Amino acid sequence: MNTKKRELMKEKVRHHVTRLEQKGPFFQQHQYRHHKNVSVHEHVCHVAYTSLKIADLLKIKVDEDRLIRASLLHDYYLYDWHEDADWHKWHGFKHPRFACKNAHRDFGLDPREKDAILKHMFPLTIKPPKHREGWIITLADKICAFKECWFKNWSFETTK
Ligand SMILES: [Fe+2]
Ligand SMILES: [Fe+2]
Repeated sequence: MNTKKRELMKEKVRHHVTRLEQKGPFFQQHQYRHHKNVSVHEHVCHVAYTSLKIADLLKIKVDEDRLIRASLLHDYYLYDWHEDADWHKWHGFKHPRFACKNAHRDFGLDPREKDAILKHMFPLTIKPPKHREGWIITLADKICAFKECWFKNWSFETTK
């Protein structure tokens, strides 16, 4: 994939970030740390970008807007999961439901986006995603988590 194509995909992600920021408190994700030094905000941008790359690479026909929005909102649970608190114990299992509820409240979701967010932890969620967008996000999320944990000084702006 050439640089121009990659930059175009990042632009699409930034465009949706701006739209969500105009609509609701999407920026809150900056304040929560996800993996290592990576914030939830940076992680979800990474997942959106990686999802676009997977769809392109495997030539999967997707609804790009739905794919990007669901990626950007898949971890919209809005707390620091590293903190010890009873209500978000079992974070891995519970956070898709928190994210879906918050995202629907703040931005409104369609059924395809809801399903992708609720199932993004598959196979932990047992039920698999219903749509292509959900499957791609599930895969992208795992790839991104791995890179963010193991690649030194990883950042969305510099990642290829
Ligand atoms: Fe997640
Ligand atoms: Fe995630």
